[in-house]
Amino acid sequence: MRRVAVCPGSFDPVTLGHLDIITRASTLFDKVIVLISTNATKNTASFTATERMMMIADATAHLDNVVIDILDGLLVDYVRRVHAVAIVKGLRAVSDFEYEFQMALTNKVLYEGAETVFLTTSKENMYLSSSVVKQVAYFGGDISPFVPECILETIQKRLIKEDHNEY
Ligand code: PNS
Repeated sequence: MRRVAVCPGSFDPVTLGHLDIITRASTLFDKVIVLISTNATKNTASFTATERMMMIADATAHLDNVVIDILDGLLVDYVRRVHAVAIVKGLRAVSDFEYEFQMALTNKVLYEGAETVFLTTSKENMYLSSSVVKQVAYFGGDISPFVPECILETIQKRLIKEDHNEY
């Protein structure tokens, strides 16, 4: 039986931290579905779901058992539909724990088969998030330490502040 894992997130945009978790998940499971999902608590996205999908496709092109999909619905319904054995999430710091724990338990209540597996983030990525990338890119800072090189330009071009008028 092929063991499928789902790796959900907003990925707005995907970072080296996400890529690290996806890569490590791809060694643990037969197939990993990176699932661009809607986080109802975040109301503005910088990239459309299709743009995010294309960026992840570029960044994971070397990983044979990784596919990407988009979901506008409940994660557990998707997990059930594809018979996934795990939901893979990265845990950065204690600050992530409460939020992730809440989501894992909620998903388990909604669907008993939803098992969340947490991978500890690599120490280099402890601080990294899509929001940090957006902040730095907006003001023209160097985001090369934070995002895959192949999508660097796309992200920079989109996020840089266009209006240089005085504050
Ligand atoms: O990268 P994020 O924003 O922390 O990821 C959160 C995400 C998108 C995985 C979560 O909001 C989610 O699972 N959304 C899908 C809708 C859903 O099932 N929500 C209930 C989760 S408790």
